[in-house]
Amino acid sequence: MEKNATGSVIKAFGNLLHVEFQGNIKQGEVSYVKVNDKQFSSEVIEISDNIAKIQVFEDTSGIKLNTPVEFSKHLLDAELGPGLLTSIFDGLQNPLEKIAEKAGYFLSRGLYIPSLDREKLWDFKPLVKVGDIVKRADFLGSVKESHFDHKIMVPLKYFNTFEITWVAKSGAYNIETTIAKAKNENGVEIEFSMLQKWPVKTPLFEGKRTSLSEILSTGMRVLDIPFPVLKGGTFCTPGPFGAGKTVLQHHLAKYSDVDIVIVAACGERAGEVVEILREFPRLIDNRTNEPLINRTVIICNTSSMPVAAREASVYMAVTIAEYYRQMGLNILVLADSTSRWAQAMREMSGRLEEIPGEEAFPAYLSSRIAAFYERAGSVILKNNKIGSLTIGGAVSPAGGNFEEPVTQATLNVVGSFWGLSRERSDARRYPAIDPLISWTKYLDIAASEMNKFSDRWKEKIKKANEITKYGNEILKRMEVVGEEGISIADMTVYLKAELYDICFLQQNSFDPIDQYCPIKRTIEIFDLIYKIFEKDFKFDNHDEIRSYFLNLQNDLKNLNYLAYDSFEYKELLKKIIEKLNI
Ligand SMILES: Nc1ncnc2c1ncn2[C@@H]1O[C@H](COP(=O)(O)OP(=O)(O)OP(=O)(O)O)[C@@H](O)[C@H]1O
Ligand SMILES: [Mg+2]
Repeated sequence: MEKNATGSVIKAFGNLLHVEFQGNIKQGEVSYVKVNDKQFSSEVIEISDNIAKIQVFEDTSGIKLNTPVEFSKHLLDAELGPGLLTSIFDGLQNPLEKIAEKAGYFLSRGLYIPSLDREKLWDFKPLVKVGDIVKRADFLGSVKESHFDHKIMVPLKYFNTFEITWVAKSGAYNIETTIAKAKNENGVEIEFSMLQKWPVKTPLFEGKRTSLSEILSTGMRVLDIPFPVLKGGTFCTPGPFGAGKTVLQHHLAKYSDVDIVIVAACGERAGEVVEILREFPRLIDNRTNEPLINRTVIICNTSSMPVAAREASVYMAVTIAEYYRQMGLNILVLADSTSRWAQAMREMSGRLEEIPGEEAFPAYLSSRIAAFYERAGSVILKNNKIGSLTIGGAVSPAGGNFEEPVTQATLNVVGSFWGLSRERSDARRYPAIDPLISWTKYLDIAASEMNKFSDRWKEKIKKANEITKYGNEILKRMEVVGEEGISIADMTVYLKAELYDICFLQQNSFDPIDQYCPIKRTIEIFDLIYKIFEKDFKFDNHDEIRSYFLNLQNDLKNLNYLAYDSFEYKELLKKIIEKLNI
């Protein structure tokens, strides 16, 4: 076997080192810079002749000229196997909690602890027997992880077929123990354990991509009805500073109708990360009654960690998600914020002295953003099960200006655009998702599914969006000519739009009942409001109509604070319908 390449540092510039090397290396290969008894991991980002530029993932102070470097032959990869759920990693999959136990909360340089626990035993049940023929991604066995059947698969790096020659009996094993042996067509024997590694920057799956068909309900009315997203789809939540992007992402992590959520808190403020770490283990998943952390993996980098680790974190998240998708599960990746990820790319590109594009972002910014979102999608597996991976990213454009490169590149590739506006957050109309600027490409498919519950769905949503738009125009006119200056008919439209906004689109993320609106309840309330849209109200003067709608608004708003299926909820709903005479 060819020996690993080696080299030595000839120039250092921040975290970027120039290394003179001997041997064969490849783009993206992981290398180790050796200082005394420690080693710092790094990644090859440019090669020319015998000089490589490598980006070190940790603080490089103290690295001198001639410091030795060893290349590893493998790309930056993720360790995959039982034990991922409930873990909190940094962008390079260092297990932050375990490091904290050993060395305190600050990652000490060069400290290495494996990503997945090597000692923990998992109850393995074989799914193959001697003589079976298996291929990549076929299930060899399963273990219980939280309430999932975590499937142990033939690693995806193999492309040939194997015949099983030995398989472990049901029992408790650690992730490094051999659980099956097999030989390939040439009789060469290999061993499988429960641990495998996937490169993080290459999309990986086995099976056929399939078109999206199922709605991903989020428990948030403003999303589920007018701007739905599908399982396997993509969305972004751009918004100005402090408009509520992180609160929204936390909501999605808690209530989205998926099996597993991977949160990539990328370049966030340290305080926010601590909040996630404290809050998630305490929260209970309302569908399984288990702690929410049991279905969650958290990847977090604060803005104080080196840029290269920040750049890697979104890839790490999406790779772990692809791994679980391969078991036939529905996964959601949430990245907050992709702007900080893009800034990491800009910083690295600057150091490489690449020709800058718009706002000094590298010219490949759009293609990197597109490649990230393209890893979403649904895949049909061999057993006909469908696994889906949905990706959603927060974008924080400076000054809330959506014309900047990251927002523009993102909206070109995503399926749903949930734009938060300063106007709405200033008016405390939360969630500040602005119905006037948001859109979705999934409406046709979502509507055909929603028609099962309620008829003429698409037409109704179009009408609701029109009323929102027209109501806003009337409001603008009213600001100039005053309430008396507009007709009673226009006033009615404006008040219908206000009612829809206040009682349906707005939702209080901090109220224990209103924060989560099950889809059945969302449809029921939307249908009721739609009947109000269609009703022809007859009023003689502005005062009369205002007080009528104010009353109606209060009743409907109170409905949101009552538990669905409770006696009070049903009584109030009945009262509203009687009063409306619809
Ligand atoms: N749905 C909501 N309901 C009630 N309050 C909200 C809601 N969303 C946001 N807020 C308020 O707005 C504040 C800021 O929200 P958040 O931290 O999510 O903003 P952000 O857009 O992530 O900000 P940054 O750009 O700094 O990352 C919250 O602390 C909260 O007080
Ligand atoms: Mg935020």
